[in-house]
This record gives sequence, C-alpha cells and structure tokens, in this order.
Amino acid sequence: MKTDHVQSSVRALTVHAPRAPLSGSLQVPGDKSISHRSLMFAALARGTTHITGLLEGEDVLRTADAMRALGAEITRTGTGNWTVRGCGLDGLHEPADVLDMGNSGTAARLLSGILASHGLTAVMTGDASLRSRPMKRVMDPLAATGAVFLSRQGGRLPLAIQGNANPPPLSYRLPVASAQVKSAVLLAGLNAVGVTRVEEPVATRDHTENMLRHFGATVSVEPMGAGGRVITLQGRPELVARDIVVPGDPSSAAFILAAALLVPGSKVSVRGVGLNPLRTGLFTSLREMGAELVISNERVEGGEPVGDITATAGALHGVDVPATRAPSMIDEYPILAVVAAHATGQSRFRGLEELRVKESDRLSATVAMLEAGGVWVEVVGDDMIVHGTGGAIPGGGMVQTRMDHRLAMSAVVMGLAAGQPVRVDDTAFIDTSFPGFITLMDSIGAGLAA
Ligand code: S3P
Repeated sequence: MKTDHVQSSVRALTVHAPRAPLSGSLQVPGDKSISHRSLMFAALARGTTHITGLLEGEDVLRTADAMRALGAEITRTGTGNWTVRGCGLDGLHEPADVLDMGNSGTAARLLSGILASHGLTAVMTGDASLRSRPMKRVMDPLAATGAVFLSRQGGRLPLAIQGNANPPPLSYRLPVASAQVKSAVLLAGLNAVGVTRVEEPVATRDHTENMLRHFGATVSVEPMGAGGRVITLQGRPELVARDIVVPGDPSSAAFILAAALLVPGSKVSVRGVGLNPLRTGLFTSLREMGAELVISNERVEGGEPVGDITATAGALHGVDVPATRAPSMIDEYPILAVVAAHATGQSRFRGLEELRVKESDRLSATVAMLEAGGVWVEVVGDDMIVHGTGGAIPGGGMVQTRMDHRLAMSAVVMGLAAGQPVRVDDTAFIDTSFPGFITLMDSIGAGLAA
C-alpha cells in the first residue's frame, strides 16, 4: 500500500437527484475504530496477527505508518488483508521522525496512551483539522503516568511526549463521554504494574475492552449507575497475536442507508454491518422516525455482532433523540440531520456538545450544511432542532465540508434528495474513512461520477 498518502487535492462535486430509485446490495469498508485498534494492539502483541477487512482509509493508513515507526512489521497482503508482526509490550522502538496522524483524532488520542507509558520520546502532528482539536482531554489523565507533554497553546498538536517506562496504574473518571479518552487511559495501563480503572458515566463504544481481551488481557466491565460502566485492566499482560475479522463500519453504512430512505422508491441492502449495541443509536433513531430498516442474517464475526441491513424509502416523522443516546451515534448526527430535514415535523437532538470538537465543529457545520440546502435549523444550548419539510428539501446551495469526511458524505446524500442540485466544495476527505464511497453510491444508481 502506498504510504505517502498526503491528502489529495480538492475534489468539488455537484450532486443531482438521481433519475431512478437507488437499488442494490453492497458491502461497506471495515470499521474505522476496530481497524485502528487492530493495528495498534497487534503491534503491541507477540507474534503475527492476520487482519481481514481492514479499512484502507487515510486515517487507518496513518496508524499503520505510526506503528511501523514504533517497530512493528506491517504488511498488506491483499485488499483488506494485512499482517502485523508485533514487538511485544516491551519492544517498542523510539520513532526516528515525527508521527503524522493526518486527520485522525482516534489515532492521535489512542497513540498518546501508548507513548506516555513507554520509555521513549515521540512527536505527533496532523493536518490542519487535527492540529485544531483538543488533546488536553488525554494529556490531563495521562500526566499521572509521569510522562512529560509539550504541546502548542490550548493542548493542540504538534505534541511531544516523553514517556515513562514504569508508569503507575491510573484511576480516572471520564469528564466527557469519549471512547478515545477511555482507550488512551486503558492503553497506558497496559505497561503499568497493577490495576488501571476507568469510570464512564455513560457507556461509550467498547472495542478497546473487547479487543484487548481478545489479545489476552484481563479486562472487567461492571455496570455503574444508570447506563455507566467501570472498566478495570490488569497491567503488564502477555498480549499474544490473534487474528481479527473487521466488520463493515455502521458509521459508513449510515450514509448508504440514509440515501435509500430518502430517494423515493429506493431499496438498498448493506451486508456485513457491525451491530455492536454501543454503535447503533442511529438505527434506533431512524426506526423511531418510522424508517423501514430490516436487519437479517444476524451473526457473530470476529467477536462482534454483524448483520445485513435493508432500507426502504418511505415517509418519516420527526424524532426527539435523548442526550444519553449520543455516545452510541456520535458520528451520525450530520446524516441524521439530513434525514430529519425530510421528515414531517420537528426533530430535536439533545446534548451535542461533543460535536463541537470533531474533525470540524460539526454542530455549526451541520447547521450551515442544512441552511445551504434551504432547511430551517436552530441550535438551542447544546441541542439541534431541525424543522422537517415533509418531503424533498429545496437544495441549491454550496456546502463547505471543512476537512470533515462525514460532512462531505452527508452533503452528498442531501443533494441526492433535494429539489435543486447541491454543490459540495470538497469530497477529498471522504477517503479518510470511506474510500470508494462515490463509486459504491454509483453502483446503486446515484449517478455521482456522471
Ligand atoms: C472513536 C470514538 C469517537 C468517534 C470517533 C471514533 C473511537 O470519538 O467520534 O470517530 O474509535 O474510539 P470520541 O471518543 O472523541 O467521542
């Protein structure tokens, strides 16, 4: 795989409504969260891990490069098939150069936990989007490892980390619902003697817990209060290579399914989608709107629940999404907002403060996207209120995607179901999480390339 994957040049797109309904059956690329973790954990294990279905998006390729720079041998053996010869927990090398994490917050935050707990010095940077995102949320808890952090003002990248080879185990209560912060603390705990403990008031995606167990770590998860969890990890486990099958990313499937729900007469199936309950808040919300989403062929693959999802276009009504659901659909609000714009009546999405620190300020970017499409939308405190039109939205505007892949894909879907064509300023960042998105959409009749 090419490794000098500098973000390609700007790719503007004008999206027209397709002439015919969308139809067909397809698979989306591998889950981004699981793909990053596969490479990182396999690099920390002893032996050779085979990964199938790895997402070959820009973000994950950055993680592959970083883990190579830390000493793992990582090879692509075919499409989505990768092998990782790990160095073991005590075998990481100091990287010879700056680690460039591109657009990926997950890569930067999780890697911080690994770097802080090893006796090496490393410097991380990223693209303009990542360099504007807060790293203090991981630097604060990780400072207790004894690692030294030197960042730009406001805890922004570039960030230099001088790790501690003998870190104490941490005990931390998450102040924000973030799987990235949880994972950074747990990963620092791998190299600490004793028990690392994380309390999360609201459960967030649990791929780190599940996958560390898969590689041989002892991890316990207990319920805490209403919907929270306490996670403990025994330090210095013997991590051993284990094969991994990466399921299709539900956060990528979301765009295809939403397009099928909105383009009149459409029916589309996405096969092999990950259905981890901590990731499926969007599907719950869509069903509450009256969406016809049918899950079939449910199975467990590589330890994760997986199924095929079929979406059929139909009438939708507004929905009130509670704040407690946000962690299970945190990346799906831009596309849910597009769906809500077509529904009859008002939708309210509560407690969206975390959207402000994503690849862009997704709260304001989503509002601007809908306004460009002629939709009335409001922000009240941390809630978004979308006034649905009850049918095709006007469209006709230009969406600024702000280096945000999910904004770009949401804008494309918005254009497919709008009265007037929608212009998208740049679709290049889609490659961070969903390479081949445009081609796949065209395979079900979207007509984008034309
Ligand atoms: C991710 C966690 C989420 C999500 C991101 C992937 C992960 O971020 O938005 O796309 O893989 O742990 P936060 O933990 O910051 O909410």
